[in-house]
Amino acid sequence: MADKFKLVIKNLHVSVDKKEILKGVNLTINDGDKIAFLGPNGNGKSTLFFTISGHPKCIVTSGTIFFNNIDVLKLSVDERSKLGIFLGLQNPCEVAGIINSDFLKNIIDVRNTVPIKLFDFYKILDQNCKKIKFPFEMVHRNLNENFSGGEKKRNEILQMLLIKPKIALLDEIDSGLDSDAIKVIAKVINDEYKKNKGSFVIISHYDKMLELINPNKVVVMIDGKIVMKGEKDLIKKISEKGFDFIKNSLNITHDKQDLVDECCFKKK
Ligand SMILES: Nc1ncnc2c1ncn2[C@@H]1O[C@H](COP(=O)(O)OP(=O)(O)O)[C@@H](O)[C@H]1O
Ligand SMILES: [Mg+2]
Repeated sequence: MADKFKLVIKNLHVSVDKKEILKGVNLTINDGDKIAFLGPNGNGKSTLFFTISGHPKCIVTSGTIFFNNIDVLKLSVDERSKLGIFLGLQNPCEVAGIINSDFLKNIIDVRNTVPIKLFDFYKILDQNCKKIKFPFEMVHRNLNENFSGGEKKRNEILQMLLIKPKIALLDEIDSGLDSDAIKVIAKVINDEYKKNKGSFVIISHYDKMLELINPNKVVVMIDGKIVMKGEKDLIKKISEKGFDFIKNSLNITHDKQDLVDECCFKKK
């Protein structure tokens, strides 16, 4: 069993296009955590995930992110990924001209000194496609090109299964999935968690998903800060009373409502 790890985010301030989005985030992700990351739209959840992963638009103006004693902010995107940080995107982009299976083989090969044998690769690809009920022919298509919303999300989960990250940041990985697919993805997350441990941070607006993944922690972000941490009962409270009860109880006057339920990093 590998050594235990910890990702510690301290007083993180982040701007995008000169606008401050994260305003002092403090969060620790421990090995073995399964965190439900909640918050109204447009309050900085995706920005936090992008910042941890190294998106160049997210400018860290102050604060730190450490993975054990490694300063994550000094690492490039691929170094962060090789360290074990994985981002399952809210809006995966379509890449014409790149065959999905070539991409998927490559994400394994860059982590090893010797490339995986084609036969072995197709074997694990087939096993994992079956796990997530993803038709095998999808691997022969261009990466995400003309995939449905649900297919794109499954392709993100497929990547996670192939590279077995230490920390999986899953950004609305369930949006666009039907209720059967949500059960499949939740089961895959839970099985991976049992088998490989590591940690998961899951942004979701679906009670069903949150109930199925059974998080050990719940955190809520409003206006670029983690304003509340709790346990599973917090999900029920939020689903019954909305985020307003948190705003009221903490006297938050900020009334941000993103009318477009979309990630700000989506291509225009
Ligand atoms: N380039 C930008 N200029 C101004 N505001 C931006 C820019 N990029 C992102 N934002 C704003 O950052 C906020 C946080 O977005 P995001 O992290 O996607 O929120 P969430 O994931 O919580 O829905 C949103 O209000 C969005 O409009
Ligand atoms: Mg988002």
